[in-house]
Parts: sequence; C-alpha cells; structure tokens
Amino acid sequence: MVGIGILGCGTIGPLHAEAVAGIAGARLVAVADQHLERAEEVARGAGGDVVARGDLHGLLAVPGVDLVCVCTPSGTHAELGCAIAEAGRHVVLEKPIDTDPGAAERVLKTAAKAGVVLSVIAQHRFDEGLDRLHRAIGAGELGEVVLGEGRAWWYRTQAYYDADAWRGTWALDGGALSNQGVHLVDLLLWLLGPVDSVFARSRTAAHAMEAEDVIVASLRFASGALGALTVTTASYPGAPETIAVAGPEASVLVESGRVVSWRSARGAAEEDGAVGLPAASAARGSRGLAVDAHRAQLQDVVDAVREQRRPAVTGEDGCAALAVVAAAYASARDGGDVTVA
Ligand SMILES: NC(=O)c1ccc[n+]([C@@H]2O[C@H](COP(=O)([O-])OP(=O)(O)OC[C@H]3O[C@@H](n4cnc5c(N)ncnc54)[C@H](O)[C@@H]3O)[C@@H](O)[C@H]2O)c1
Repeated sequence: MVGIGILGCGTIGPLHAEAVAGIAGARLVAVADQHLERAEEVARGAGGDVVARGDLHGLLAVPGVDLVCVCTPSGTHAELGCAIAEAGRHVVLEKPIDTDPGAAERVLKTAAKAGVVLSVIAQHRFDEGLDRLHRAIGAGELGEVVLGEGRAWWYRTQAYYDADAWRGTWALDGGALSNQGVHLVDLLLWLLGPVDSVFARSRTAAHAMEAEDVIVASLRFASGALGALTVTTASYPGAPETIAVAGPEASVLVESGRVVSWRSARGAAEEDGAVGLPAASAARGSRGLAVDAHRAQLQDVVDAVREQRRPAVTGEDGCAALAVVAAAYASARDGGDVTVA
C-alpha cells in the first residue's frame, strides 16, 4: 500500500482526500494545513486513523507517508515539492506546477536526483472525451492537425479573489490563464505537441486584482499548427470550457470533457450530441468539480510508484505548460511574439 499525505486542506485538498478513498493500492495516512482545524475536519471526514498535522514537517514525521499531494497556493508548490522530494517521498503537485519557471525547474531536478515520482495535476486528460480525442489524433484520424482552440469563459466574483490573500497575485497565483486557463494549455500541448511561440493580449477588466482576468493568446506549435486561447474569469455567468481541434480528416469539439461534435470526412456529422461521461465543468468553481478525474490521475500516480515507472502526467509536462503561460504573460506585458523557453 502506498501511504498518502495531503498538504493543504482548503478547497481542493478535501477533494484529494475523497479521490484517494476510491483508489486501489493506496490509503490516506495523514493530512496537514497551517490552519490545523481544516486538517482535523478532513481527517474526521476520512474516518479511520487519518492523522491531522499543522505543517509539512509534521506531515512527513507521520509513519507510513510515502507520497504527498501538495494542495497549497500555486506559488508555494515547487519549494514544498523540493522539501518533500529531499525527504525521499513521492510528489503530486496541484496545477500549476508553480508560478515561477525557475522554481519549477528546481523541483524537477530535485525529484530526479532523489529518484522519486513527480506528477502535476492535469485531471482533464482523464476525462473520457479528451482521452478519446487524444487517442484519435495519435491514430491519425484527424489527419495532420492544423488548429487547436481552448476557451474558458468563466466567472469568479470579487469575493472569490478577496477571500484569500494569495488569489490574483503575481507571486502566488497569476491570473485567469495561470490559474484557470492552465488546464487548457496543458490539454493543447498534450493534443498538438510543443508550442514554439506565443502572442498575447490581456486586461484586468472586472476585478480588483494584480493579475489579468481576460487574456487572448495566439499560439504557434512546433508542428506548424496554430492555436488560440481565450480565457476569462469575468464572463457572467460562466460557460462550460471547450477544446476544439481541426484537421483535414475530422474536426472535434469537446465541452467539459465530453465530445459534443465529431465531424469526419468519412461521414459528415457522424456524431452530434453528447458522447462520453459527463464531467463537472470547472465553470462552476472548484467545489463543483467531479472527483472521478482526480481519482483516475492519482490512481495512475500510485500505479507508477508501485511499478517504478513514470506517471502519465510528468513534472516536465507541468513545466511545459508553465513555460507557455510565462511566454503569454511576457508577450502581454512587453508586446510582440515571445519564444517559449
Ligand atoms: N485541479 C483543479 O481543478 C484545481 C481546482 C482548484 C484549485 N486547484 C489548485 O490547488 C491549489 C490550492 O487551491 P485551493 O483553491 O484549494 O486554495 P485554498 O486557499 O482554498 O487552500 C489552500 C490551503 O493551503 C493551506 N496552506 C497554505 N500554505 C501552507 C503551508 N505552507 N503548509 C500547510 N498548509 C498551507 C491554507 O491554509 C489553505 O487551507 C492551487 O494551486 C490551485 O491552483 C486546482
């Protein structure tokens, strides 16, 4: 059994606890939060003999913790991940891998040196419709993909940003792209391959916050394909996020993880209508997230630990998504096309 610890018991930490409860070969051992009462509440909810602690040090001291899920503010992920890896434990970082590309590189190197598994949450890769699209692209069913588009027109209230001091700050969160849109960045990279360069424009339009709440980015992929991202948290009342991919043989539209349109040269409008399991849309906010996709990813990480292999989503994947986010921010700030580091 892989013993799991969870660090950070705010919004997403309790969902990790719920996800762990349903996976094979693992058990929840301990949870921690700097607000100890939050950890105690999650431990009580998990039942059994799950232990609650007030910090990472206390969590790592609990016997049987082999892997730690880091569910703290984004700008703290890499530093905490380094400490966990240096203690010889496997690491799952919530998305994004961090807000600072340099820190993200450090956690990659530290995990490699320690010989531990490092994964970054990208749970939408495990949504049925997106998994199916990924397999179809790999099998050449769309032909050579020419265009990919990700759209997240979501809504967050000012109260959402005001509730926690880290939200919407450059150091600890970033804006709509770094927090919400990074899911779409990861999916486009997974589906279309690496991005060479980015041109972006952004605004802070409807919220009092440091970072942006509206961003539009144009992507050029190494394959020659082009891409577009439109992401906002200022679009009342919020809409389900979509990924659209086009090729000469087929074009596919996925909404909230479900294929809603699959048009191919072989038979126009072969499928129109919802296909695949419904996935909760992140447009509804973290508390509305379905647990299944997190559970599927954590199951893969636990299997990777047990089988001594790399996980489906690696630290490198997390770094690649952050590099695109950083290039978009640099373009929006300084102007022009920015090469992805
Ligand atoms: N995968 C997803 O769809 C998804 C959804 C929501 C949030 N997230 C990510 O999860 C992370 C956390 O987001 P959230 O909404 O749960 O935030 P949150 O503010 O609700 O919770 C964070 C918790 O971490 C605790 N914490 C902070 N620093 C700590 C430390 N050093 N040691 C112990 N505890 C500490 C805080 O007390 C708080 O309870 C963010 O990086 C966010 O991007 C991912």
